[in-house]
Amino acid sequence: MNTKIVKINKIQPNPGAIYEAGNIIKDGGLVAFPTETVYGLGGDAFNPDSSRKIYEAKGRPSDNPLIVHIANITDLDAVAVDIPSTAYELAARFWPGPLTMILKKRPELPKETTGGLDTVAVRMPVNEVALDLITASGGFIAAPSANRSGKPSPTQAQYVIEDMYGFVDMIIDGGDCDIGLESTIIDLTSRPAMILRPGFITFETLKEIIPDIVFDGNIIDASSPEPPKAPGMKYRHYAPKAEMTLVTGPVDNVITYINDKIEQNSSKGLKIGVIATDETHYLYTADSVKSLGSRKNEKQVARNLFKVLREFDDEDIDVIYAESFEEKGVFRATMNRMIKASGNKEVRV
Ligand code: TXA
Ligand code: MG
Repeated sequence: MNTKIVKINKIQPNPGAIYEAGNIIKDGGLVAFPTETVYGLGGDAFNPDSSRKIYEAKGRPSDNPLIVHIANITDLDAVAVDIPSTAYELAARFWPGPLTMILKKRPELPKETTGGLDTVAVRMPVNEVALDLITASGGFIAAPSANRSGKPSPTQAQYVIEDMYGFVDMIIDGGDCDIGLESTIIDLTSRPAMILRPGFITFETLKEIIPDIVFDGNIIDASSPEPPKAPGMKYRHYAPKAEMTLVTGPVDNVITYINDKIEQNSSKGLKIGVIATDETHYLYTADSVKSLGSRKNEKQVARNLFKVLREFDDEDIDVIYAESFEEKGVFRATMNRMIKASGNKEVRV
């Protein structure tokens, strides 16, 4: 397949390209596009063939449902039924933005889009290119993250091109994603409402609107026999090529442990990467040491994680040791992705 790559941003808005991209989706094709969280791989949510193509392009199992992206709150009832008032409260506060809600699906929405479930995940992104594209394509874009299944979600167009060139009709390069981690997913069909995937909109913030909100325990407890409720959370995810270990504990212990490991592994001839922070990066002597940013800036740390994992892939790093973060606020989402990237390999020191 020929893949057309176009650049669209605030300085080069390019309405002609948006129109063309919209028509590709209307005609059953696929367009990768930027959102504020990560790049998406979009097709017409009401076209079952488009959803099949998405699964194929991603190399993703088709029991893993897609998120439907809309551009107007009033379009919510075109995809969902029995919408609780909480959904409108959340939409008023967080849409457009990085929050996905699980609601009861409208029967007209094809089951291919929802992975056979009778619920649907809906989100209204804040990125303007995304909103323009959704409108140009008829209003309903089904889109997972635009990575090949198992790889870190792409936060830059170059990684979308790496994964999706030849598999999609168009890739829109809209620059770097602002948030860099996928949206928070909240299930409003369960009682009490449940967070299925932590994200930039935090548990603490959501609790202000839904005081009895809970976490899906199975996304946190790796030893749980139950699969997590968001089908996608059960797959090994965000995985760098290297074997990654997350190191948790008081900072001094973490630094000592990682430096010991660097010494042991480099004597074996392995190429070692360290995921550190602005406060600590100069204390390591590995082949590649990358800072996610300052521990005082949870947004910066979140934004850099997937980029850093991809860079280690490019550098052919064999082993990664990563510092960890306190599980609160946005760090909770970063830690969730790091634990997954490590395949649950966490050591406490
Ligand atoms: O920020 C985001 O959410 C990005 C951008 C592109 O919008 N999208 C994204 O999509 O991360 P994806 O497909 O990579 O992750 C969607 C997650 C999967 O874990 C999937 O299993 C879950 O949402 N999901 C989708 N529909 C669901 C449903 N009806 N019930 C439970 N989980 C659902
Ligand atoms: Mg994904």
